[in-house]
Amino acid sequence: ADVDAQAVFDGLIENEQRIEPRDWMPDAYRKTLIRQISQHGHSEIIGMQPEGNWITRAPSLKRKAILMAKVQDEAGHGLYLYSAAQTLGITRDEMMQQLIDGKAKYSSIFNYPTPTWADMGAIGWLVDGAAICNQVPLCRASYGPYGRAMVRICKEESFHQRQGFEILLTLMQGSEEQRAMAQDAVNRWYWPALAMFGPPDDQSPNSAQSMQWKIKRFSNDDLRQRFVGMLVPQAEILGITLPDPDLRFDEETGLYEMGEIDWEDFFEVVRGNGPLNAERLQRRRDAHEEGAWVREAAAEYARKQALRQSE
Ligand code: ACO
Repeated sequence: ADVDAQAVFDGLIENEQRIEPRDWMPDAYRKTLIRQISQHGHSEIIGMQPEGNWITRAPSLKRKAILMAKVQDEAGHGLYLYSAAQTLGITRDEMMQQLIDGKAKYSSIFNYPTPTWADMGAIGWLVDGAAICNQVPLCRASYGPYGRAMVRICKEESFHQRQGFEILLTLMQGSEEQRAMAQDAVNRWYWPALAMFGPPDDQSPNSAQSMQWKIKRFSNDDLRQRFVGMLVPQAEILGITLPDPDLRFDEETGLYEMGEIDWEDFFEVVRGNGPLNAERLQRRRDAHEEGAWVREAAAEYARKQALRQSE
């Protein structure tokens, strides 16, 4: 029977059809999806912190309202993603425990500090820009619930990217100090944003299988290329310099040549030793503990409702 099931699964993938929660799927496919979707969800949840840091200090009421909406969107993305992962047989509690215990990965990018208001611009422009490049192809991921969750997430990400661009544009049209602040933020976020796409293709253990299963549609390096291609004309409009003296377009290969990403730094951050890994996790643990009474109250309410309905 398993041979038939495998053939049905292979056929669905081959024909660009979707795998749905009740379909048979290979164990390794289920595991890799749980891995990727839960990591993605955790990234959204931890990703609220660097910007949450600026909500009380946004420079105007309008900026504050926009930033609050964006951070709330990220909470929503985390919840869709956890729901998508739950369809594969892992519980929300299990995922949250893995995160809190420091056993789960989340994106390296959220372990860097946000010392200035311009960081809100750089995060929107670069981090959310990278997220869009990576996530638009995921709308076509072979697993139905993941691909569908990505559609709405990408629409919201594109608003996030534009709001970041607009913050930088406003600063770049401002005073000398404001322009310097914008450039400094871009200098700090550019390289970590390039590293978000993951290790180079020849050091990416999961890529080949994930591409065969049509979860990933493009390799890490291909997406990095696309991203840089998107940034270059936008940097020109902003009047911002991308901090890579080796960056140039090679007419012959049609590819951007770039300087070397600091992979040692990246792997250190992924191992938990980045500038703010410990602080980010501690904040998440505290929030989880502080929220215990809400979970208890919700569970108790659900118990009473169920009791009332069975009466
Ligand atoms: N930060 C932390 N860990 C990373 C990163 C990163 N930027 N990039 C790769 N890794 C990890 C992988 O999770 C993998 O570890 P694991 O096997 O223990 O899970 C390891 O490094 C090797 O990488 P790959 O073999 O290339 O892994 P994969 O095929 O999963 O590709 C990628 C990594 C591109 C991040 C993929 O998982 C993906 O597209 N995920 C969905 C998007 C996402 O998570 N975005 C989060 C940030 S964007 C945002 O939320 C705003």
